Amino acid sequence: MKVTIYSSQPYDKKYFIAANENFGHQLIFHEARLEPKTVELARGSDAVCAFVNDDLSEITIEALKAIGVPMIALRCAGYNNVDLRTADKLGIHVVRVPSYSPYAVAEHTIALMLSLNRKIHRAYSRVRDGNFSLQGLTGFDMHGKTVGIIGTGRIGSIVANILQGFGCKVLAFDTFENEALKKNGVQYLPLNKLLAQVDIISFHCPLTPETFHLINEESLALMKDGVMIINTSRGAIVDASEAIKGLKSGKISHLGLDVYEQEGDLFFHDLSETIIRDDVFERLLTFPNVLVTGHQGFFTEEALVNIAHTTLENIACYGDKKPLQNTLHLDQAIAG
Ligand code: NAI
Repeated sequence: MKVTIYSSQPYDKKYFIAANENFGHQLIFHEARLEPKTVELARGSDAVCAFVNDDLSEITIEALKAIGVPMIALRCAGYNNVDLRTADKLGIHVVRVPSYSPYAVAEHTIALMLSLNRKIHRAYSRVRDGNFSLQGLTGFDMHGKTVGIIGTGRIGSIVANILQGFGCKVLAFDTFENEALKKNGVQYLPLNKLLAQVDIISFHCPLTPETFHLINEESLALMKDGVMIINTSRGAIVDASEAIKGLKSGKISHLGLDVYEQEGDLFFHDLSETIIRDDVFERLLTFPNVLVTGHQGFFTEEALVNIAHTTLENIACYGDKKPLQNTLHLDQAIAG
């Protein structure tokens, strides 16, 4: 199968070429993002391989159809960037990698929490500058704190388990309750009740119309003063402008983001020689109690191996006319 891989970075090439030894696809790598103006690069391909910030809106999918590409293979779990209705209407198959390493994202979530709490990002710079003062680096014990997990699927349930290991009280909100977590002492509450009780809140739900800007003026008003917010899910779950107001007022004591609503123009690229024109993003970076990573939650050796293998396997199944395990169906269609 001829596969055009968009938004590819050197690490994608490395892991896909290694995994392809088992499949023998023809892989064509492009740094360019998939969007209407780059669709032409995929002419003659049996599949396009896309990532989190590729544009798979109606126009792009129609353009893919027009040049005869029958398959979109996402090399990620989230699919909020795909117009599944258009894909379904045009008979284009969409596959994804639903689970490659939930541990990778869960552990990164905890890394953000602990770094912010114990101010590791600030201590790192201070010590390198010969400044060994502890002033301003006070943290808090995780033990005994109440943490709210929004979305207790693959990633959220691991985060809950890790936090219980620290001695945290774990509250959860999800449209489906996980019985195993409940047996282990996780308590499900309606969202409003959860928001009022937590010291830390962490997002592990998909981006949908219901979760879009879940962190907003109203939800922040319900929370305790000094709440820590962690988002490793999708950027648009947090209204960043409202988060800035919350940081300025002290409502938010710590903010950890691995994702950002407008990350498509920023993340995965070296922009260190350019001027970043996103004033909201730049303002976020000025706060000492904000820690941003560039969508690296998934970025472990194990995850990259699994992503490459499953993506190429999904494509091979299609080529061999075998049942597609990881197809996205119309009833999974979500906007956002
Ligand atoms: P999952 O599908 O296993 O779990 C998602 C959970 O969210 C489910 O239990 C679902 O019932 C729940 N949910 C759905 N709508 C909800 C709502 N309105 N309110 C509360 N809960 C709701 O997904 P998984 O694998 O745990 O991934 C979670 C999210 O993490 C993905 O949607 C993706 O956006 C993000 N992600 C981020 C990565 C990163 O590198 N930062 C990498 C992989 C995923």
